Amino acid sequence: MGSTIINLFFSFIVLLQLHSSAGQSSGMKGIYWFSGSGFPVSDIDSSLFTHIFCAFADLAPNTFQVTISPSNSAKFKTFTQTVQRKNPNVKTLLSIGGGGANADTFAAMASQPDSRKSFISSSISLARSNGFLGLDLDWEYPSNQNQISSFSTLCTEWRAAAEKESQSSGKPRLLLSAAVFRSSNYYGLPLPASVLATKLDWINVMCYDFYGPGWSPNSTAPPAALFGSAGQVNCDAGITSWIQSGFPASKIVLGIPFYGWAWRLVNQNNNGLYAPANGAATGAGIDDGAITYKGINAFKENNRVNSVYNGMVVTNYVSSGTTWIGYDDKQSVAAKVAYAKKKGLFGYFAWQVGADDNWTLSRTASTTWSG
Ligand SMILES: *[C@@H]1O[C@H](CO)[C@@H](O)[C@H](O)[C@H]1NC(C)=O
Ligand SMILES: *[C@@H]1O[C@H](CO)[C@@H](O)[C@H](O)[C@H]1NC(C)=O
Repeated sequence: MGSTIINLFFSFIVLLQLHSSAGQSSGMKGIYWFSGSGFPVSDIDSSLFTHIFCAFADLAPNTFQVTISPSNSAKFKTFTQTVQRKNPNVKTLLSIGGGGANADTFAAMASQPDSRKSFISSSISLARSNGFLGLDLDWEYPSNQNQISSFSTLCTEWRAAAEKESQSSGKPRLLLSAAVFRSSNYYGLPLPASVLATKLDWINVMCYDFYGPGWSPNSTAPPAALFGSAGQVNCDAGITSWIQSGFPASKIVLGIPFYGWAWRLVNQNNNGLYAPANGAATGAGIDDGAITYKGINAFKENNRVNSVYNGMVVTNYVSSGTTWIGYDDKQSVAAKVAYAKKKGLFGYFAWQVGADDNWTLSRTASTTWSG
């Protein structure tokens, strides 16, 4: 009798400990900080995140060395120290490349042993000299068979070099990640899932920009839906393809956009999903069709309109006049993070911290993941 009670008591303690260590955010609550956003590093509420990606370092086209532009050097140098003030455990990674970088330079670098070496050694020394705990490769995208093989070779050599550096420096190995295409299949070309799974610590799957006013058929569409019927690009199909290709769910990070895309409607009264449109809307806060979550909230306030949540596909949208915006509000973000949890993924990341509005989406994501 007594021992049963004691056993129960100990199981209770163990359960409590398990619960609190899970609550202490195992996995990833990630965010990119983009220097181009102008958002001050010191304003980042790092208590809401476990990993922060500092974007972007550049790849020099002639030397194939990774460099930090002079305008970013001071901010990058103190980045880790600054964000760790509010959260000493937050991990920082230096992200290289990005959607605005020249993909041909990455392809050329990855194609030859010497240029790969240049990338690898310069990236590692730059991470160390700037106090980052890891590196994140954002090559958008390796897009033919040769480039995909080079990408695979690059990741293999990068990991070996990071291990070697760790042995010689006596420091924990630099974390290595890559931001990758939404699906394990790039328009018919399989990506090297098994190599990436063994060489990288995780992959950031870019589950956004599925539809936008500049490249989808001229109709409104959810830019980053979680679900969709066959033929509609969606996040679940992409994540499922990565898992089916043999990539472990526990190393997949689901990407969430803190921005939306704005279309110009043909008829302002036909303003649902898949309504006829005429390219990108223009207006306050809209930049080439894109608009931050903060900008969307201002749009809603100025036009006194509310957004609609479609829980079938998981997207929000809002319109006023002929401007129609598809995006992720709190409901979409919560549904995606809950999905990531249920699927046993490593976690989620968002692009990008400066687009949030008073931490609304960051906080929704964090509490959904930890709660
Ligand atoms: C959409 O319509 C606009 C205006 O008619 C046109 O300029 C644009 O090329 C069209 N975009 C697509 C993707 O068809
Ligand atoms: C920002 O969020 C906090 C916490 O939810 C709230 O107390 C505060 O009023 C918000 N500030 C603004 C300007 O909306």
